[in-house]
Order: sequence, then structure tokens, then C-alpha cells
Amino acid sequence: MINFNYSIPTEIFFGKGSISILGKQLKRYGAKVLVVYGGGSIKKNGIYDLAIKLIKESKIKFWELSGVEPNPKISSVRQGVKICRDNRIDCILAIGGGSVIDCSKAIAAGYYYGGDPWDIVTDPSKIKKALPVASILTLAATGSEMDIFAVITNEETKEKLGTKSSYMAPRFSILDPTYTFTVSKNQTAAGTADIMSHIMENYFNNTEGAYVQDRLAEALLKTCIKYGPIALEKPDDYDARANLMWTSSLAINGLLDYGKVKGWSVHGMEHELSAFYDITHGVGLAILTPYWMEYVLDNNTVDKFVEYGINIWSIDKNKDKFTIAHESIEKTREFFNSLGLPARLKEVGIDEENFEKMAEGATRHGKLGEFKPLSKQDVINIYKSAL
Ligand code: NZQ
Ligand code: ZN
Repeated sequence: MINFNYSIPTEIFFGKGSISILGKQLKRYGAKVLVVYGGGSIKKNGIYDLAIKLIKESKIKFWELSGVEPNPKISSVRQGVKICRDNRIDCILAIGGGSVIDCSKAIAAGYYYGGDPWDIVTDPSKIKKALPVASILTLAATGSEMDIFAVITNEETKEKLGTKSSYMAPRFSILDPTYTFTVSKNQTAAGTADIMSHIMENYFNNTEGAYVQDRLAEALLKTCIKYGPIALEKPDDYDARANLMWTSSLAINGLLDYGKVKGWSVHGMEHELSAFYDITHGVGLAILTPYWMEYVLDNNTVDKFVEYGINIWSIDKNKDKFTIAHESIEKTREFFNSLGLPARLKEVGIDEENFEKMAEGATRHGKLGEFKPLSKQDVINIYKSAL
């Protein structure tokens, strides 16, 4: 295990009805709030009305930025920064999934940056300060409600990049599992795949002696495998939604990667898919993950797959190592397919046309990942195998 500094500053208010603290908490950060939300789901399910009522009751002045799209665009960030500057906003309240929260984080950081906000996406070191961000989470997936990342798309250059700064970590997040009852089957499945991918990006890692991190990761993976199908079957199952929601936060808030050398693989490859084809992030991850696993399986990595196969999928430990590894990959693929997620790129309308450019993008900072670093050609090979 390597050295680390533990800091997870986001205050979490978890459970049914926890929105009641909204006014009191927001007031700690100012009297003028920008409320950011997406395409309207929060108006249909009543969360918008309730939040606005509480904001009004607390005598907080508010402005709105609506229509933030999935895979949020830099143009929305620019719009938000303008509203904040024109009205001297004190803090930002994101109500939605990862896209809305990420957009809010970038607005918060962009507010204090002199130039175009795209600069702080391409170069996180330019983030020196940010407005306070709070969130009301409506979709369990990205963990943005409790982490320091924001992923933004530049629609002109077809780039989708993650930026990060501890300044952008939400000051508080409200996690009411009942708010996710209305999430569609497809988004529930994609969200579950995204949570699992965050866990696996940390789990498939070469750092030695990070035993506790790996056992925590396995507990979280098992939670997704147990509750993902239940949430699909019964969207208003409180325990299923609650377990998925809390797992989404724990998967990426630092808990699993403190003490490990960092370096993710599948996310870098997926962000290129969403940048070029605007597909749902979790869908792209579910397609790529089993092919990535097959590609990186070799004599050096097989033991990790054995650990995964035995501890997660209960495969007989007396079997040959590579048999266990291959079976564990097959089980992973079957699980994603059982959630109704596609298994091949062509099912989501992706062909070979942009493989070269996407692989170039995925390796723009050098080889991708830490478990088995991938060259541009490796990424092309994985895309091809997933066709
Ligand atoms: O826009 P509305 O109308 O709200 O509808 C949304 C959207 O269409 C809908 N939705 C959200 N909550 C709902 C709901 N529909 C019904 N009932 C509800 N309660 O779901 C759709 C997808 O929402 P979105 O926010 O895009 O999904 P998600 O949370 O999966 O976020 C995806 C984005 O986050 C990035 C992804 O790349 C992608 O851009 N990521 C962010 C990360 C982070 N900040 O740490 C890490 C991740 O790896 C990921 O890259
Ligand atoms: Zn993700």
C-alpha cells in the first residue's frame, strides 16, 4: 500500500425525506443560488417543485439553468458561468445525475477563471478556486455527488475530458433513494455498469498490499450484482435503490483508490465513444469491459482475475487459473447482458470509422491505465474485438 492523504469533505444527507435540510444547508453558503438541472425529469417526478418550495421558504434568491444534456457540453458550462457572473451567485445547486452535477462543478470553477472554461477542463491545474456546489442526486451511477471530478464534452472538437479539483467536491449532497424510483430501466442498468466499472478500475491494479481496498471493492461489486437486477425488476424497491445509491458514492469517492497507484483503462476508452457518438457512458463501459478483460489477461495479470473469479463469482478455486479467469470474464459479460445492456459496439451504431482517432484521443497523455498499460494500437485492437 502506498502513502495517501484521506480527505472526503462532502457532507451526505442520506435517506427518505432528507431534502428537508435543503434551505438550512444552502444558507450556509450564501443567499443567491443557481439551480442547475437537466431535460425535465425533475419536473415530472416532483423533485423540482419540492426543492423550489424549500428554497423560497428559506428566502434564498435563485436563478435557473435548465436543459443540461447527458454528456454535458462546454456550451452549457459557459452559459452557467455567465449567469453566475451577471448575478453574483454565491453557490450552485445541482439537481440531477452525473451530467448535471459535473456541469455545475465546471461552472463553479469556471466562475473564478479568467479565460474560457474549456481551459480548466484541459488543464485542471488552472482551477484555483470554485463556488460552493451542492447536489440533490437523482440517478445512482457516476459518484459525482461525492467526488472531485467533472467530465465535460467539447462538441466542436469532439473531445470528452475529465477534470478534477478538490475545490469542486460538493459541499453537501442529498441522497434520497426514492428520487431514483423513476429512473428508466436502461439508465438503471447503465448506472449499475458505471458503478461496477469504477470499482473494477480500482480493483484491477498492481499495487501490492492493498488488501483492505480490495475486500471493500468486492463488497461493493457484490452489492451491484445483488441489487442491480432487483432495481430493474422493481423500480420502487427502496433497499435496492438505497444500496445502489450509496455504492455509487463509495465507489469513486477515494475510499477504494487511496493507497493504490492510480490509472484507469476502460474509462479512457469509453469517453472517446461518448465523445464521438454521444452514447450513454455506462452502456459503453458495459460493452468494452469484457473485451478489455480478455485483452489484458496474461501470465502477469491472471492472478487478479482468479481472485475476482473466486471472490465475486464463486468459481471453483480448484480449477486451472486461466479457466477461472476466462469464466470470470464470461460471468461479467453475462451479468451486463442480463441487465439488458448491449454486448457489441455495432449494436449502438459504432463502426470502425473513427477507431484510429478515438484511440489517439484515449492515449493522448501516453499509455492508458496501470494494470496493463495500453498503447494506441492496443486500444484499436480492443475496439475491433468489441465490434
Ligand atoms: O435530463 P433529465 O431530464 O434529468 O434526464 C436524465 C438523463 O436523460 C435522466 N434522469 C436522471 N435522473 C432521473 C432521470 N430520469 C428519470 N428519473 C430520474 N430520477 O437520466 C438521463 C441520464 O442522466 P445523466 O446525468 O447523463 O446520467 P449519469 O448520472 O450516468 O451521468 C453521466 C455523465 O457523467 C460522466 C459521464 O461521462 C457522463 O457524462 N461521469 C462523471 C464522473 C464523475 N463526475 O466522477 C465519473 C464517471 O465515470 C462518468 O465519466
Ligand atoms: Zn464512469
